[in-house]
Amino acid sequence: MFAADCARAGIDDPELKAAYAVCRDYVRSTRADDFLASLLMPSMLRPACWAVLAAISITDDLVDINEGNGSERLRAWQDALAIDLLRGTSKDPARLALVHAARHWNLDMRKLDATFAAYHLDALRTASIAAPWQEWRARSRNSYLPFLEQCLAMMRHAGLDIPLHVTRLDAYQRLSDGLFLTDSLTDLAEDLDQGDVRFPAEELGRFGVTEEDLLARRWTPQVQALISSHLRQARSWLDQPQIWGSLPPGPALMLRTGCSLYLARLRAAEKAGPTLLHRAVVRPSRVTRWRAAGQARFLAAAAWRLFPLPAFPTTAPPAPVVLPAPRAASSEPLPPRPHDSGARPPQLRAELMPRHVAIIMDGNGRWATARGLTRSDGHKTGGDMLVDVVHGALEIGLPHLTVYVLSTENLEKRPREEVDYVLTCAREQLLSGELLRHDVRMRWAGAPEGLPGDFLDLMRSNEQATKDRTGLSLTVCLNYGGRNELTQGADSLVSDARTGQLDATRVSEHLLRSHLPLGDLPDVDLLWRTGGEHRISNFLPWHTAYAEILFSDKLWPDVDRRDLWHAMTQYTHRARRYGAVPDLQPAELDHDAPIASHS
Ligand code: IPE
Ligand code: IPE
Ligand code: MG
Repeated sequence: MFAADCARAGIDDPELKAAYAVCRDYVRSTRADDFLASLLMPSMLRPACWAVLAAISITDDLVDINEGNGSERLRAWQDALAIDLLRGTSKDPARLALVHAARHWNLDMRKLDATFAAYHLDALRTASIAAPWQEWRARSRNSYLPFLEQCLAMMRHAGLDIPLHVTRLDAYQRLSDGLFLTDSLTDLAEDLDQGDVRFPAEELGRFGVTEEDLLARRWTPQVQALISSHLRQARSWLDQPQIWGSLPPGPALMLRTGCSLYLARLRAAEKAGPTLLHRAVVRPSRVTRWRAAGQARFLAAAAWRLFPLPAFPTTAPPAPVVLPAPRAASSEPLPPRPHDSGARPPQLRAELMPRHVAIIMDGNGRWATARGLTRSDGHKTGGDMLVDVVHGALEIGLPHLTVYVLSTENLEKRPREEVDYVLTCAREQLLSGELLRHDVRMRWAGAPEGLPGDFLDLMRSNEQATKDRTGLSLTVCLNYGGRNELTQGADSLVSDARTGQLDATRVSEHLLRSHLPLGDLPDVDLLWRTGGEHRISNFLPWHTAYAEILFSDKLWPDVDRRDLWHAMTQYTHRARRYGAVPDLQPAELDHDAPIASHS
């Protein structure tokens, strides 16, 4: 069957075949259920599906190994993958298959970064404390949706009518919660063995269950009620008629029958009763499992026969990028990722280039609302676009970029859920995302009050980890307010005056600036606000005193690095005068030149 799958997928090179076989075997031995689910894919997509699943499984295992630093191991693997993707090949079989799958099916492997980011956070988690719902959801969605997205992208590439970004819809998010919750319930004893309590903290409170109860495996009426409620919840999340109804029949039936395998696991968990707390991993009996899997495969195969994939992709994969010299997967920064369109930065005259661009990235909410998505979706896509813009800044050689991610007013006035989601995006896309592998020095600015302690720790460790980078200095303003910054400067000045460290009669602009939290940041040359509003919204009042200001109507998630280049090009046409008379052309300065007559 493997040979037939490879033949349908057009894989005939023996080394490549062997690489895919490694992936299939890894998935089969480490994730038996996911392997069964992968068999519901049409034959030609299965090898690519194993390559993606193997990458997820291998990286999860890298973090799970008890000795050493799991996070560093994962980072090294990600670095090696980024280089392999640029080269178009790899010496490692799992990555060789993944690189091939990415090129063949036009997959964007950065989508897996959210899953890797979740593993990094797992590696950093030390205590057995249950996470709040917000964190639980982020973990659940990062575990399943990126994989699902890759499967749907393959089918889209094969000609099926599957809209982009569907996995951002509520129904998909709930489905992923159902899959994750099923995992947590059926692997409960195993997680508890590792001191891990995976129920959302609020739910423990609601049922009056303590972490100690669970860790001591006490089957109290409260624990029983907690588990029953979650079994019910998982079952209802796994039933998403909206998804089955909105996809073409093949993928709809595949997903639906995939869920039936998870429902069988939930039934086994229900039957297990108190042993759920003790038995390592609860699964349906072999017979039940194979029966469920057999039925699912039969239905999926029938669906694919009745509604086959329209087209086998014939487009040649893009030529690999040749890198100057082989590089080990180390902390050496990677070159900027090129733009998907192949666009290159314009050549701007060095003396006209802005040195410091600051951006008010506005419009995430409106962008999402206009598409029937949630504001959170807008923030997530906005975050992706920020990463693209940072690559553009690296490509064009901008020294300083400062971005407004969250204002003090946003933190105070927006719903806690939205603020938490912006923080989640910042964690995944900036604190643990791909930028860490590039030549970007990151700095975080803003008030620490109101931000979670572990988030502040991550910010500081991120600054430390990137402090030796020299390419672009990226200042991320989060819970930042301009007036707050000025007030902090004044406060620091007064306190130094009080202790006699400065002469209070000699306050100067220079002195005040040196007390500002961002005093060492150069003045902003270009302040750019997207989203159509014409205001500054409390952003960098000191540094923008003489900035050129550009307002554009595009909503931030519609922006990419080409808009940054365009904004910088527009800046080069501005005449900066700083209060002086206009710079006159030599001819106009020539006193002997005839005076123009207005008559
Ligand atoms: C900017 O987008 C991002 C933040 C302020 C966090 P908005 O969320 O303000 O989007 P709109 O202005 O409502 O469209
Ligand atoms: C400014 O956007 C803050 C950020 C982009 C982070 P807002 O959307 O909060 O600004 P106002 O409320 O429209 O002024
Ligand atoms: Mg706004």
